Amino acid sequence: MEVRKVLLKEDEIPRQWYNILADIKINPPLGPDGNPVKPEDLAPVFPMNLIEQEMSDQRWIDIPDEVLRVLTIWRPSPLVRALSLEKALKTPARIYFKNESVSPPGSHKPNTAVPQAYYNKVFGIKKMTTETGAGQWGSALSFACCQFGLECKVYMVRVSFDQKPYRKAMMESWGGRCVASPSAETKAGRDALERDPNTPGSLGIAISEAIEAAVSDTSGQTRYSLGSVLNHVMLHQTIMGLEAKKQLDLIGEYPDIVIGCAGGGSNFAGIAFPFVCDKINGRQVEIYPVEPAACPTLTRAPFVYDHGDTARYTPLLPMHSLGHAFVPPPFHAGGLRYHGMAPTVSQLAMEGIIAPRSVTQLSAYEAGVLVARSEGHIPAPETTHALACAVEEAHKAREEGKEKVILVNWSGHGLLDLGAYERYFAHELQDYPLDEAVMAESVKVFANHPRPAALKSR
Ligand SMILES: Cc1ncc(COP(=O)(O)O)c(C=O)c1O
Repeated sequence: MEVRKVLLKEDEIPRQWYNILADIKINPPLGPDGNPVKPEDLAPVFPMNLIEQEMSDQRWIDIPDEVLRVLTIWRPSPLVRALSLEKALKTPARIYFKNESVSPPGSHKPNTAVPQAYYNKVFGIKKMTTETGAGQWGSALSFACCQFGLECKVYMVRVSFDQKPYRKAMMESWGGRCVASPSAETKAGRDALERDPNTPGSLGIAISEAIEAAVSDTSGQTRYSLGSVLNHVMLHQTIMGLEAKKQLDLIGEYPDIVIGCAGGGSNFAGIAFPFVCDKINGRQVEIYPVEPAACPTLTRAPFVYDHGDTARYTPLLPMHSLGHAFVPPPFHAGGLRYHGMAPTVSQLAMEGIIAPRSVTQLSAYEAGVLVARSEGHIPAPETTHALACAVEEAHKAREEGKEKVILVNWSGHGLLDLGAYERYFAHELQDYPLDEAVMAESVKVFANHPRPAALKSR
């Protein structure tokens, strides 16, 4: 019988995260004065131990035992050979997916929520605030805060809040509080509602609300947490790629292709960065971040300095951006509705080390259903973007008669996204091609921003 799952024992879990900043250069974030941000500038927003990690270029960083203890609730996660999908596609490719849907909230997000809650706790923080798109990140932080006895407040993008009521119940099960964003609780929220009372919301607006809620707590015991984009988030997520590498090693495989969907870039970075490291050191591997065609940050937007949020509370980050005021259309993959992209992922795309792709909503759901009908698991709408790319590559391998090894990150399950699947089956979903004129208007916001320098890592 062919092996279907490759499992690591608990004591084989990686003990260190891989920090890509040891191997690539990125432009520094800039403060309001146009100068690089200093650690103390970020102190009202994040605890200093995480700020140090954000700015570190140490290649390997130890994972604290207290963090490993919580991660082993579900880690190491399985690496699964998609035998039934391969058969359905009649492909000579061997497809492996790293199943991150086995975590309590159902996605890769707690891989960073747990260390972030831990470092906040150690620093003496009592409450964390955050945004959430699809609800996966808010659930993950609620779960992590619960593990370490912290309060948690989540601003959930309005369109997803309405589409997925059970995400709020999940957050509340772990003691978190969740409100729809824009809310009337913050200035950023009130401003957004004034601009458009019927706005579907966006991650950019929700981030502004959560930052404002953290920095305006005069007790000094609240900090903000971001579920993607930042360097320390990418760092924490590398546990996935490091595990996958060990698992493939056990069966004598190495991927020709590594694929992850990309919203802010964290699950992609987590699966891909350990392989990016190999590629920088001369190994041949194709690496594809996959984004929605309706929010094409890496594939169409310019590489600029832009804010991470709509109200411009964050520093200027060097990244591919559609403009901080861009409100993506209400397609059903809330975690991919973000105007920017992680600076590390943006830099790798700029240098051609990774090759961004985009897929439309309908082709993503088509792939999701195909995979659910062969592999059984129902993927999150975000994950279907990565799967669509894997299916395309498997078809290509068949046409070329090549035995490619494809590694794809299964970033989450879709069990709280069935409303969207229902609408797909009822032919109620549509594609939202992004009009060139709309994009040109949106990117005007950074006309006067400084330009990031062209850097070379290899
Ligand atoms: C299941 C799932 N996959 C992917 C993403 C995209 O985020 P990122 O690009 O940071 O991995 C999200 C974000 O909410 C998500 O919930």
